Amino acid sequence: MTDLPVILTGFMGSGKSSVGKVLAELLSCRFVDLDSEIEASAGISISEIFAREGEAAFRALESEQLGRVLAERGRCVVATGGGVVISHENRHTMRKHGVIINLKVTLEQVLERLRGNDDRPLLAGNRVPEQVMELMEGREQFYADADIRIDTDGKSVEDVAALILGHLKGLSA
Ligand code: S3P
Repeated sequence: MTDLPVILTGFMGSGKSSVGKVLAELLSCRFVDLDSEIEASAGISISEIFAREGEAAFRALESEQLGRVLAERGRCVVATGGGVVISHENRHTMRKHGVIINLKVTLEQVLERLRGNDDRPLLAGNRVPEQVMELMEGREQFYADADIRIDTDGKSVEDVAALILGHLKGLSA
């Protein structure tokens, strides 16, 4: 079994944080939520960072925290934010330091899970499904650059975590 950080990527609403917590329990290791690390370091919420300083400032903080968390090494489960994969530098950092697991999600699941949720600045306002789809499609090539991809459609958080565990055991077998 790998001792490297297990890094979960995926679009907003793919279940990275919920699955990450369960997976960390199964692996008896630390769970790190990158968005929470960013909020703790900035002292304000992600929505406030976007509103006050803009997306570029948020992305800079995101890269900084990703680098810091992964530099600590050792086994842990890291749930990233959906946009972490956009940056070439972030993708390189993740490749270098961990095992990348991508959680695949459908547009329908995203819309269903995030309905009424207002803490995702990129989905705020008058986003129509076509715009969310465009964002997802634009990122697909980066999500595809993972060691393992898991289809989450119709699966519970526990199912997905157990599937990942099985794959991780397979990787080191
Ligand atoms: C973002 C996803 C969010 C958060 C920020 C930007 C994105 O995290 O990092 O709102 O660009 O997809 P979740 O994927 O945990 O919602």
